[in-house]
Amino acid sequence: MASVQSLSAAVHQRLAEALSAALPEAPGADPLLRRSDRADFQANGMLALAKQLKGNPRELAGKVVAALPANDEIKEIEVSGPGFLNITVADEALLRTLAARAADDRLGVPYKEHPGTSVVDYAQPNVAKEMHVGHLRSTVIGDAIVQLLEHRGETVIRRHHIGDWGTQFGMLTQYLIEHPHELDHESDAAAGDGEAAEGSAAMARLNRLYRASKVLFDSDEGFKQRARDRLVLLQSGDEETLALWHKIVDESKIYFQGVYRQLDVEVRDEDTVGESAYNDDLQNVVKDLEESGVAVRSEGALCVFFDDVKGPDGTPTPLIVQKSNGGFGYAATDLAAIRNRIGELKADTLLYVVDARQALHFRMVFDTARRAGWLPEDAARQLPFGTVLGRDGKPFKTREGETVRLVDLLDEAVGRAAEVVREKSEKLGLSEEEIAERASQVGVGAIKYADLSNSMTRDYVFDLDRMVSLNGDTSVYLQYAYARIRSIMRMAGEGAEGAAHPELPLKPAERALALHLDEFAETLAHAADLYEPHKLAAYLYQLASLFTTFYDQCPVLKAEDGAQQRENRLFLCALTARTLHQGMALLGIRTPERL
Ligand code: ARG
Repeated sequence: MASVQSLSAAVHQRLAEALSAALPEAPGADPLLRRSDRADFQANGMLALAKQLKGNPRELAGKVVAALPANDEIKEIEVSGPGFLNITVADEALLRTLAARAADDRLGVPYKEHPGTSVVDYAQPNVAKEMHVGHLRSTVIGDAIVQLLEHRGETVIRRHHIGDWGTQFGMLTQYLIEHPHELDHESDAAAGDGEAAEGSAAMARLNRLYRASKVLFDSDEGFKQRARDRLVLLQSGDEETLALWHKIVDESKIYFQGVYRQLDVEVRDEDTVGESAYNDDLQNVVKDLEESGVAVRSEGALCVFFDDVKGPDGTPTPLIVQKSNGGFGYAATDLAAIRNRIGELKADTLLYVVDARQALHFRMVFDTARRAGWLPEDAARQLPFGTVLGRDGKPFKTREGETVRLVDLLDEAVGRAAEVVREKSEKLGLSEEEIAERASQVGVGAIKYADLSNSMTRDYVFDLDRMVSLNGDTSVYLQYAYARIRSIMRMAGEGAEGAAHPELPLKPAERALALHLDEFAETLAHAADLYEPHKLAAYLYQLASLFTTFYDQCPVLKAEDGAQQRENRLFLCALTARTLHQGMALLGIRTPERL
C-alpha cells in the first residue's frame, strides 16, 4: 500500500496552497505548521514572511484564511496574536486518516524516496577481552539504527569491525604454542547450558590465557622476544600460528554470542568482518598513500598531516598509517575498510557507531580517505555516542575502579526486573518460567531504552533504580501501557480491534491521543533519516502517556455512549498497541502481551 498521508501533512498542504495564493510573490513559502496547546495546530509562517515583505502579518494571515478552499480537514481557523493562525481539525477527518493508517501493514510509514546502501559499523568488541558498557552503547544504538534504516527501505550492510588483529596476538599465540592445553574445555557439563553460560565459560578461559601470557610477557625477556617473533609469523600468514589465532577468535565469538543473546540482538557471523579481514590490503593502502603524496615518511613512520590537528605543544599530530617498525595499526585497517566498503560493497553511506572519544581518529581517517580519492565528500559519518557515567558523574567503573563488565550489568538489570515482575505476577498467575522470560524482556528493555532515549551524543548516568521504575520515561512504563491495552483487547473478546466511527465526536483525551497517533510515520521517518532513535523513543513515551490519560478519562469496554463509541475506543486502543509494538520493536525492545 502507498504511504498514508497524515492529517497534519494534509493541513500543511492546504495552508501552503492558500499561502501561495495569498502571496504570489513568495511561491513555495512554508506556513510553519506546529502542534499547539491553544488549538490543535498553529501556523507561524506568516509572521516572518510579512515582516520580510514589509507587510502586516495579521493582514496576511487573514488573506491566507480567505484563500483556503473548502475542505474536510480544517474545522476552525482563526487569526490570533500578532499574526498566527490557530487551527482545529475535524474529528471526522482525523478518524478517517487513522483508519487508513490502521489498514496499512506499515502503519502508513513511507519508504525512503531514494534509498541507497549504507554500511553500519557497530557492535565491534575486541577479541580476548570482556565487553564493557561502551560496547553496550555501540551494539544497542547500532542495532536500532539498522532496524530504522531497513524499515525505511535502505539496503543495510552490517559490519562488526571487531578488534581481532593487534600486537597482543603474538603473545597469546606464542603462549598457546608453549601451553597447548590452555584453551581446552574442561568437562563441559560444568559450563551449564545455554549460550550465555557457554559464553561466560569461554570468556573465563580467555581471561586465564590473557593473564597467564601477560605475566610471562612482562617477566620473561625470552618469552617476550618469542612473542614478538610470533607476531611477525602471524602477520605473514604462517599456518600454525593462524590456526591458533583462529582458535582464540572463535572462542571470543562464543562469548560475544552469549552476550548478544542476553542482549537480545542478532549479530550474524557473516557480518562480523574484523580488522584482520583487511590485512592483505594494508600494503596497497600504504603504497597508494605514499605514491600519491597523501602520506609522507616521518622518522620512519608513514604519516598523514593535518593543518588543524596539533598537540598541546603546537607540533602537528599525524595519523600514523604504518609504524616505523613496519607494523600497522587501527588507522590502516580503517582506511582499507573504507576502500572495501565504497569500492567493493558499493555503499553510498558509511556510518560508524563509535564512542565520541574516537572522533579525532575518524576525522583524520575520513579526511585521509577523501584526499586519496577513496571516499566521496560527505559519504562517511561517525555517529558518536557519549560516555556512560556512574552516579558520581564520572565514567562508570566498579568500586575497585575497573571497567564494568557488560554481563554483570545485564544480570543485575534482569534481577531487578524480576522483582518488579514478580510483584505483579500473582495477579496474572505467571509461572516461574514466564517470570524469568518477562524479567529478561523488562530488564534488557530497561537498559536499551535508557540508552536510546537519550540523545546519543550525551553522556548519561547509569542508574538501574530509575531504569526499571514503573513511573517516568522508562521502557517498563511503555511495556505496561502495551500490556494493559492487550488486556483490554482480550477482555473485549470478539471485535477487539474495534472500528473507527468518523461520525462520532471525540472527547479531548481521545483527540489528543488520535492527533499523536497521526504523527507516527513522520516521526519515524525523521528518526531514521537523522539517525536519532531518541526521537522515536520520545514519541513512544508520549504515546503511552496520552494513552494513560485517555484510559483514565474514557472508559473503553463500558463506553458511556454505547456500542459505536466502544468500537471507536477499541480502535484507538488497537492502533496505539500496534504503534507501540512497532516502535519498540525497531528499538530492539520486546513488548510482552501480559505483564
Ligand atoms: N574495537 C573498537 C573498540 O572497542 C571499536 C571499533 C570501531 N570501528 C572502527 N571501524 N574503528 O573501541
